[in-house]
Amino acid sequence: MADRIVRIATVGLGVGKGHVRRLAADPRAEVVAVCDSLPGRVKAVADEHGIEHRYADYDEMLRDKSLKLDAVTLALPNYLHEPFTVKALKRGLHVLCEKPMAHELKSARRMLDTSVRTGKTLMIRFNYRFSPQARYLKQMIDQGVVGKVYYGRTGWLRRKGIPMGTGWFSDKKLSGGGPLIDLAVHRIDLAWYLMGKPEPVAVSALTFDHLMRRLRREKKPRKGLFTVEDLAVGLIRFGDGSALAVEASWDTYAEDRERMWTHVFGDRGGLLHENVGGGYEFRAKVVTDSGEFPVDITPASYPGNLENEIDHFVRSILEGFEPEGSAKDGFAVQRMLDGMYRSAAQGREVKV
Ligand SMILES: NC(=O)c1ccc[n+]([C@@H]2O[C@H](COP(=O)([O-])OP(=O)(O)OC[C@H]3O[C@@H](n4cnc5c(N)ncnc54)[C@H](O)[C@@H]3O)[C@@H](O)[C@H]2O)c1
Repeated sequence: MADRIVRIATVGLGVGKGHVRRLAADPRAEVVAVCDSLPGRVKAVADEHGIEHRYADYDEMLRDKSLKLDAVTLALPNYLHEPFTVKALKRGLHVLCEKPMAHELKSARRMLDTSVRTGKTLMIRFNYRFSPQARYLKQMIDQGVVGKVYYGRTGWLRRKGIPMGTGWFSDKKLSGGGPLIDLAVHRIDLAWYLMGKPEPVAVSALTFDHLMRRLRREKKPRKGLFTVEDLAVGLIRFGDGSALAVEASWDTYAEDRERMWTHVFGDRGGLLHENVGGGYEFRAKVVTDSGEFPVDITPASYPGNLENEIDHFVRSILEGFEPEGSAKDGFAVQRMLDGMYRSAAQGREVKV
């Protein structure tokens, strides 16, 4: 379909409004419909981008053949990722679904299986891979600058920042978990991707919920809220002998407001992807040797016009290739998350 415009609907218009904004600027795509059960969100986004077709009901939108949809992008509470993805794939649509792939492993399995069976693309939105800094680091790894990778450490600690969204994030049944499935999912994916996507084999982890329990006692919220972990730590072992250490929190007495890091160590060099200034700006660094001297390599600048994950999804449909952040990758990351939760619950290392 190289000569066509990809016709897309975006469903869930919290962070999903960012999908619409990026797609609206892409001449290869058209957002022909938006859908959200909150009418105010639909109106705001549709009015901003002049989108005619507006839905509160996803099934009704999928039934409307006149839309001639090719794809949907989904930005819904985690427990809805599976049913909404599966319905779209079965209708012959390609899907870009927000991270995490699902709130539980068996849902992710069904999503992967359906995409294989239908032959339609399912991409998970692992946007950190697409940061210019990650792009640079991937090139360095591919050029052999760090040599053989054997260890990574990654994490995301927030001092105070339990996301609320429309009220589901800290409800275990609806989200599947707390900062591990919400924040660390990004950093695990990035580290795993930079490490060359080794096969995960075993996981050992702990989760803590001291601050969540305090919130339940003090705030007396509706049943279900604050039922997730507030801190998770773990070690993932891979089949090639390498390992990845992980740490994530939404709420902890750490000094920085928001701190993200991903280190990868090899036998010829190491690399670092981290945020700067407690926000969403990043820097990348390669640490290696020049002759007998240790050297740090940092690019003086990054190109500002790189393809991001939304552009990549559109191009993967037009050109018919498997996108980065495929359903297979999403499922591998979900196995690691699931292993960490199981290990924490059982108090021992588990196979994944
Ligand atoms: N990639 C990223 O960096 C990033 C950032 C934030 C959130 N996310 C992910 O995006 C997803 C959504 O997060 P959010 O912050 O936008 O949450 P949110 O609660 O703000 O938005 C979810 C939207 O889905 C709508 N919705 C719920 N049920 C619906 C239904 N049955 N039909 C139609 N619409 C329905 C809600 O009305 C709401 O507008 C989550 O999976 C989250 O993990 C990803």
